[in-house]
Amino acid sequence: MSPFVLSRTLPLDATAAALRADVTEGLTRSPKELPPKWFYDARGSELFDEITLLPEYYPTRAEREILIDRADAVAAATGARTLVELGSGSSDKTRHLIGALPSLAFYVPVDVSESALTGAAETLLAEHPALTVHALVADFQYGLTLPDVPGPRLIAFLGGTIGNLLPSERATFLAGIRSGLAPGDALLLGTDLVKDESVLVPAYDDSRGVTAAFNKNVLAVINRELGADFDPGDFEHVALWDARREWIEMRLRARRPVVAKIPALDLAVHFEAGEELRTEVSAKFRHDGVREELAAAGLELTHWWTDRQGRFALSLSVPV
Ligand code: AVJ
Repeated sequence: MSPFVLSRTLPLDATAAALRADVTEGLTRSPKELPPKWFYDARGSELFDEITLLPEYYPTRAEREILIDRADAVAAATGARTLVELGSGSSDKTRHLIGALPSLAFYVPVDVSESALTGAAETLLAEHPALTVHALVADFQYGLTLPDVPGPRLIAFLGGTIGNLLPSERATFLAGIRSGLAPGDALLLGTDLVKDESVLVPAYDDSRGVTAAFNKNVLAVINRELGADFDPGDFEHVALWDARREWIEMRLRARRPVVAKIPALDLAVHFEAGEELRTEVSAKFRHDGVREELAAAGLELTHWWTDRQGRFALSLSVPV
C-alpha cells in the first residue's frame, strides 16, 4: 500500500479562469505584465529544471549546499512531524530535509502542477516508504487549507520563489502563512541575496538560451490554452537588474510591431516595436529586509544560514 493522497483545492476551471483574467488584465494595461506562475506547464517546468543545472544559475546549488549542511540544525530547531512544502516542484532539494527530520511522518507538497506532484511523490515514497504523502494541487498565493496533519509543522518555501512576488503580495502571503501557524510550528524560507549585477544578470540570461526559451514559453501557454497566435520569434528575451528595487526583471521585447489574436478572450493585443512585456520579477534580499518583512507578518527570525559564498540564505522563523 502506498500512502499517497492527492487533493485539489484548485479546481481545473479556476486555473483556466485565473489565466484568462491575468492575460486580459496584463496584456491590455500599460506597461504590459504577466505573473510568472504561467511559465510552469509541463514544458516550462522541464525548462526550469534545466535552468537549475546551468553554470550561470547558482541559486539551486547554493540552496542545496545549505540544506545539506543545515538539515540537522533545522531538525533540532523544529522537531517537525509534518513538512509542508509550498511550490514543491520536483521536491529534489527537499529530500535532504526529509532524510534529516527524525520525527517526520507527513509530507504535504503543494504545487500548481499535478504532474510535478505525482512524479515527486513516486520518487520520495520509494526512498521513504514510511512517509505519508498528501499532495495538494493549489496556488499557495491564495491562502491554503491544509489537510488535518500533526504538529509541529514546518512550512518550507524554498528556491527563492518568494522573490517572484511583489512586495505587497509578499506581505499578504507571509501574513497568510502566519495566520495558519500554531505555537511550535515554523517557516523555513529560501531567499536569494543581493549581489553584483555581473553575477545576477547572467543567471537570468544564460549563454545557451535556456532562460530565453523558458521566458518565451509563457507565449506557448497562451497560444495553447487560449488559442492565441503569438510567434515567439517576434520577441527577444530581456533580463535586467533594477538596482533601486533590488530585483531582476525578465521581459519579452517585441522585435517589430506585433498584433496577436487571442480568440478565447475575443481580444487582439498590439505591441509597438521595442515594447516590453514584464513576465517576472525576482527580488533579491538582505538579512535586515527579510527580518523586517517577517516581523511585519508576526514572525520572528530565529536562524539565518547562508552558503559558503554568501549568495543565498535559508531562514527559520516562528510565530510571535
Ligand atoms: C522560481 C524563484 C526559483 O526567480 O530565480 C529562474 C525562477 N526565472 N530563471 C527565480 C526563474 C528565471 C526562479 N525561481
